[in-house]
Amino acid sequence: MSTTATTTIPTFTTLRTLREWRTRAFAQNQSVGFVATMGALHEGHMSLVRRSLAENDLTVCSIFVNPAQFAPHEDLANYPRTLPADLAALAAQEMNGRTPAAVFVPNAMEMYPSGISQDVSEQRGTFVEVKGYGDEMEGRSRPAFFRGVATVVTKLFNAVQPTRTYFGQKDIQQALLLRRMCRDLLMAHPAANELHIVPTVRDSSDGLALSSRNAYLTAPARRAAIVMPSALAAAREAWEAGLTKDDCVRAAGEVVAEAAERARADSAADIRFDYVQFNDSDTFFELSGSTTREIWAQQSPHPVILSGAIWVDKTRLIDNHILGDINGVIY
Ligand code: PAF
Repeated sequence: MSTTATTTIPTFTTLRTLREWRTRAFAQNQSVGFVATMGALHEGHMSLVRRSLAENDLTVCSIFVNPAQFAPHEDLANYPRTLPADLAALAAQEMNGRTPAAVFVPNAMEMYPSGISQDVSEQRGTFVEVKGYGDEMEGRSRPAFFRGVATVVTKLFNAVQPTRTYFGQKDIQQALLLRRMCRDLLMAHPAANELHIVPTVRDSSDGLALSSRNAYLTAPARRAAIVMPSALAAAREAWEAGLTKDDCVRAAGEVVAEAAERARADSAADIRFDYVQFNDSDTFFELSGSTTREIWAQQSPHPVILSGAIWVDKTRLIDNHILGDINGVIY
């Protein structure tokens, strides 16, 4: 165990020391809440940490930038790494008289004893795939992403063996897919129903979802980034007004096209549409183009996920709305 100058939280870098800590928590019958992160922590992460502090005797966070969830052309090398600030921010979190009990900061060798390549064709060793659920939505744009996420989170769950774990709604497909993984792999620590989804935290001035990647945006691009929440708001309004899914997606597309035109004229940012979609929260299948809110309510008890991704310069922003009660219906 080591402590750093900026925090009093025990920081573990090896599996062995983390396991010793966890063994003591098991022996003392203490519940352990877990928040997995890649660092560059913001208020969205802190809302997960505070929820864990409120509901568990002990809270552990991990900080690990996972190479397996970045494609070779993606931003692994440039991903923001702010460890001293992250540890200080965690040390400052307090809820019900509790502060985080431990931080796990492993290196790549600790997490991938067989080594790790970002190129799937070169990978060797054990990987976890949640078949059929990682191909839609984000998985269409980032084909190896969920394999990398499911693999590292399985490892982190094996290491921490949490009683409860907390994921943000901002990455809704990730959270639902991991819940299904816990169920499919018969996990006990955590059990699927102990994977909790916490609402997205937004910038109070314009509604942009907080994300570590927002740090990449220049000031004019940051102003233009409001296109992401605006496009989803337009699609949601159209859905609630009874329009078909195709018309809702078109409404979002128009918002993006107008914003892109404006940003180009002002030389503010290069805005490009990736996708806006409506998916079944249970199967992740895309709704057919003629589905309306009323038709869906007759067809399925499951909430719909309205999600989107938009490029602002080289930054890919994602966001979603859950149309219905996700915790009430699944599992
Ligand atoms: O959401 C994230 O930050 C990552 O995907 C996670 C869950 C920490 C796995 O690397």
